[in-house]
Amino acid sequence: MNDALMNRNVPADLLQTLKSFNQLHLVQFWDSLNAAQQQQLADQIRSIDFELIQTTLRKGLEQTDAEPQANRADKAKAPASVVRQPSSDADAGEWKRAAQLGEQLLKDGQVGVITVAGGQGSRLGFEHPKGLYPIGPISQRSLFQIFAEQILARNRRHQTSILWMIMTSDATHSETVQFFQAQNFFGLNPDRVVFFQQGCMPAVDASTGKVLLESTSAICLSPDGHGGLVSGLSNAGLLRQMKDEGIQHVFYHQVDNPTVILCDPAFTGFHADHQSSLSTNVVRKASPTERMGVLVEVDGQTQIIEYSELTPSQAAKEDETGQWIFWAGNTAIHMFSRPFLETLAEEGCRLPLHLAKKRVACIDENGQPAPPAGSSELNGIKFERFIFDALPLAPKTLIVEGNRDREFNPVKNGQGTDSPATARSALSRIGRQWLKVAGFNLADETPVEISPLIALDSDELNDAIKSGVCSLEQLLGKN
Ligand code: UD1
Repeated sequence: MNDALMNRNVPADLLQTLKSFNQLHLVQFWDSLNAAQQQQLADQIRSIDFELIQTTLRKGLEQTDAEPQANRADKAKAPASVVRQPSSDADAGEWKRAAQLGEQLLKDGQVGVITVAGGQGSRLGFEHPKGLYPIGPISQRSLFQIFAEQILARNRRHQTSILWMIMTSDATHSETVQFFQAQNFFGLNPDRVVFFQQGCMPAVDASTGKVLLESTSAICLSPDGHGGLVSGLSNAGLLRQMKDEGIQHVFYHQVDNPTVILCDPAFTGFHADHQSSLSTNVVRKASPTERMGVLVEVDGQTQIIEYSELTPSQAAKEDETGQWIFWAGNTAIHMFSRPFLETLAEEGCRLPLHLAKKRVACIDENGQPAPPAGSSELNGIKFERFIFDALPLAPKTLIVEGNRDREFNPVKNGQGTDSPATARSALSRIGRQWLKVAGFNLADETPVEISPLIALDSDELNDAIKSGVCSLEQLLGKN
């Protein structure tokens, strides 16, 4: 193959790289490609760090008995220090003070928002970026619209103009940007909404480590995980922009949770007050096998162990006092200090790569689609970086317990738990609870939808109803 290839027009640098990493198959269809296709393939090959892939694979395969992960789980302890939900007047006072501090920071323009929206959302079975999913129980508002309205409402409440940074990937970028344009950015100033792209990684054959081809002219590439955030921010000049604007704290959340409280003032206040580099919102897991990462301490360091790394019996483990060790579920709501993000970027974002065995649609050496239709073979390995691997690198961390019912109702699966049905039902439930405070008792399951532009919380809804800004009928979709 080698000599034959030399006679073809494959650029010499490509040949040399591919040969040294035993990946010559990537140009096996070169002669059949037109100039544009050859260019595309050459660009893709040049963007790959084959050395990194080789080393990661080697390390990953050395762990076949999963021993290091097991050790980590065995050594893990429940986090020693957590700011708990208020359960006394004194606690309530603490939370109020934190919220006041957070509100002041918002007003001073010190808080930015990052939404990670680069994932492919394959579990949901929605053919578009997840942020476009129509989740409003009555209006079918999209996830993005709910976030946009929350930011607009906060801008108004705190007389500020929050910078919203939305991370997309090759898989989600154009459709996301077009959606915002078509919706006039939901009333936000387009200059304050920035889309930036994460990188991608090739998938490799699970048995040979060879990079997989999606077609004769393209490599199988997929987003590099939300850990791609650090280089994404840096490459887009956003770390510099945040510094220039005086943004000190960055609220981070996932696109899949419509009940997240964006820039939650109390969480922001606790984070700033503790001078934390990376803070995490946790809730008690519903069951040991719930698919949530867990916050733990390993050798005195705060870490997250991902659900996929724990066996069911490990996940249910209790400590000597009978307490559940892996209780603190990661809601993936974080606060970063901007200088910590800068340090991560300066250090070249050395977050580790995680390997995941997946079914990857590709072509075989004869150019035929593989794996065969109907086979459930996990033929490929994908590589991802997780942003929470920054926790052990953070000089100071903080864990704050959130209110699960209020803040964590994600859309992950098409049906069953964490589905559109459960998220819609949560949005309605929260609406009914706020309406109850305002004096309206509604039957269980009554659909209610409260735009963040009407109220961000129960007090605000009470005021809006009393002052006639909105009516009950409106919130029930009756006019
Ligand atoms: C994630 C967390 C888990 C947490 C749970 C809470 C990981 C690995 N695990 O699990 O600890 O308890 O959420 O809901 O994240 N994304 C990108 N780019 C990518 C990959 C993902 O932007 O390359 C974004 C997705 O758009 C989504 C988020 O990251 O907003 C979560 O990704 P997903 O893979 O769905 O994570 P989970 O398995 O649900």
